Amino acid sequence: MHGGLGSAFQLLDKTLGDNQDLWLSQPFTCSDLPWSRTHGHLKDALIALNDKELVQLHNCPQQRLRWFQQREPELCAALYAFEPESTEPVRPLEVSSFDSLHIPGRKWQQVLAFAGALPHRELPHVDWCAGKGHLSRIVQRNQRQPVHCMEWDASLVAVGEALAKQQGRDIHYHHHNVLQPLPAACTDAAQVHIGLHACGELHQQLLQQVVSCGAAAVALSPCCYHKTSADQYLPLSGAARKSRLRLNRPALHLAVQEAVTARRGERLLREQERLWRLGFDALQRELRGSDEYLSVPSCKRELLRQGFPAFCQWAARAKQITLPEGIAYDHYLQLGGVRHRDIVRLELLRQLFTRPLELWLVLDCALYLEEHGYRVTVTQFCERGVSPRNLLIQGDRDQQ
Ligand SMILES: C[S@@+](CC[C@H](N)C(=O)[O-])C[C@H]1O[C@@H](n2cnc3c(N)ncnc32)[C@H](O)[C@@H]1O
Repeated sequence: MHGGLGSAFQLLDKTLGDNQDLWLSQPFTCSDLPWSRTHGHLKDALIALNDKELVQLHNCPQQRLRWFQQREPELCAALYAFEPESTEPVRPLEVSSFDSLHIPGRKWQQVLAFAGALPHRELPHVDWCAGKGHLSRIVQRNQRQPVHCMEWDASLVAVGEALAKQQGRDIHYHHHNVLQPLPAACTDAAQVHIGLHACGELHQQLLQQVVSCGAAAVALSPCCYHKTSADQYLPLSGAARKSRLRLNRPALHLAVQEAVTARRGERLLREQERLWRLGFDALQRELRGSDEYLSVPSCKRELLRQGFPAFCQWAARAKQITLPEGIAYDHYLQLGGVRHRDIVRLELLRQLFTRPLELWLVLDCALYLEEHGYRVTVTQFCERGVSPRNLLIQGDRDQQ
């Protein structure tokens, strides 16, 4: 706990804990932000941003950090003190066109970077939530060791198995739910467990299984920390269990909100949906005579092509609100627009905490492994433009 990762965790934990008022409340749902009084200078400077500055700060994490560094230097220094190194690629990879079958471009780059970071070990590998086995194929070719893939989607297993059979590769599929006890072939101590972008509960399960099998090594890139069945984050390490942070799902979601790779069309649609939600919020406050945000469930994409009135009618049905005749929809859309203008500016402050929160979560995983006798590194295995989820935890069990 006194090593580099332990002290990085302690500093992050203290800084995130001391400044919870700045990132826990969401401007979208909370109109009285606790920091608007304590940090009035930040609020004023954010609200004063013009549209061009706003877009630049939203799109560029480095520029955003510089903007806040000018106004809150000490906070930024503490939040960004831990910056994992880039992963040293271990050696050039051998690839064939067979390995890249069925893989979209960016995923292929992620797979190459992840596989290239794995040192050669004379041990079978276990690929968690392997999908069609993209990673398994390239790992098997380069490690020249058997690979066991676990995946619960039968159609992905079928495609992966067919691809592996086609070339007589030493890849073994297990159609399996990883939240259940593992197949016997995947519980040997003399194995390396790998997981590329395994979501919340799944990567926690991976780490717990690695520890309980005493597996020789592990390489994991975690993802989607908010995808868990528990309402609140359940820390793995002793260090994080002692923390005063209590991360609920919206807080966990914040850790992955930097969607660097989302397409422009996707981003515009998402912004339009938020605007409509605020427009509906103005309408429901008036109809219900209550100045409180009302959470509306997520909606299908088709609805977002049907116009604001259709969206309001759907949302009203979902919340059992009766809409009167002759609603002036344009008026409420305009009210939503006024709030939207401020909210997108105020949200920049929360975005400052995105990466530090993600690092806190990754360090929890890393420290859990250290506490159980692994030598652990945390590095960045690819550029953030290739995947914003670019953190890689690698652990090797110390020889007993
Ligand atoms: C984000 S993808 C990662 C896939 C692959 N590792 C990659 O990077 O391309 C998550 C995969 O986990 C699988 N999955 C989700 N829950 C699972 C579970 N409980 N057991 C096994 N596989 C699961 C999904 O079907 C999906 O293929």
